Amino acid sequence: MKRNAILDIFTIANMRKVKMLTSYTANVARLTQEIADILLVGDSLGMVLYNMPSTHGVTLEMMINHTKAVSSVPGKAMIASDMPFGTFEISKEQAFENASKLIIAGANAVKIEGGKEIAQTIVFLVERGIPVIGHVGLMPQKVNIIGGYKKIHSIDFVLDSFKAIYEAGAFAIVLENISTEITNKIADQFPQSLTIGIGAGSNCKGNVAVFEDLLNLSTENIPPFSRVVLDVKQNAQSLIEEYFNRI
Ligand code: KIV
Repeated sequence: MKRNAILDIFTIANMRKVKMLTSYTANVARLTQEIADILLVGDSLGMVLYNMPSTHGVTLEMMINHTKAVSSVPGKAMIASDMPFGTFEISKEQAFENASKLIIAGANAVKIEGGKEIAQTIVFLVERGIPVIGHVGLMPQKVNIIGGYKKIHSIDFVLDSFKAIYEAGAFAIVLENISTEITNKIADQFPQSLTIGIGAGSNCKGNVAVFEDLLNLSTENIPPFSRVVLDVKQNAQSLIEEYFNRI
């Protein structure tokens, strides 16, 4: 089965909101393949799967292995993998070398956090055949600069970052935890752009959610903007207890 390519994602965005869902394992990929247009092997796996305090400890090797697991499951969803902290900042050549390893592992696109400082890197990757998804607003890899996982209200900061990576060729851009005022400004100023929001209000062309957050299967660090659609943690605990009481 052919996976969604950039053009397919734009066609979907013309009809309805694009659905992006994190997926770190083959089991979750099997479950989410039919729902999602894009499966994101996000570096949030460091916190969600490995109980790390931030995404800084996530290595390229971890991302490669999880990308292999997710891409081993056939399906139509595009697979996008995060470039973890420390794997793209030094030079565009370093970024290409590492992004190409994610593509070889089965990703169809990479996601990179950042603004102006990575614009030339995005141009370099796109020119060499690697589709890039940008990520602005709250950038968890920059948490030590921002000073926590808080909502971003700085209009100029987000707009400048957005403009730089949009013009550099990022085909979609994640907007994380920004005020709706900023999201609305982006929608007004860049009407053709494909924005994928998480904690960014409803004026985006798509939404992204962390699978484990939706099911309350994550750590205690569930962001305030995420919603639990099914409390698997609570239900599973009582059902498993019941199972052991019966056998
Ligand atoms: O790593 C991740 O899961 C992400 C999403 C929250 C967008 O970047």
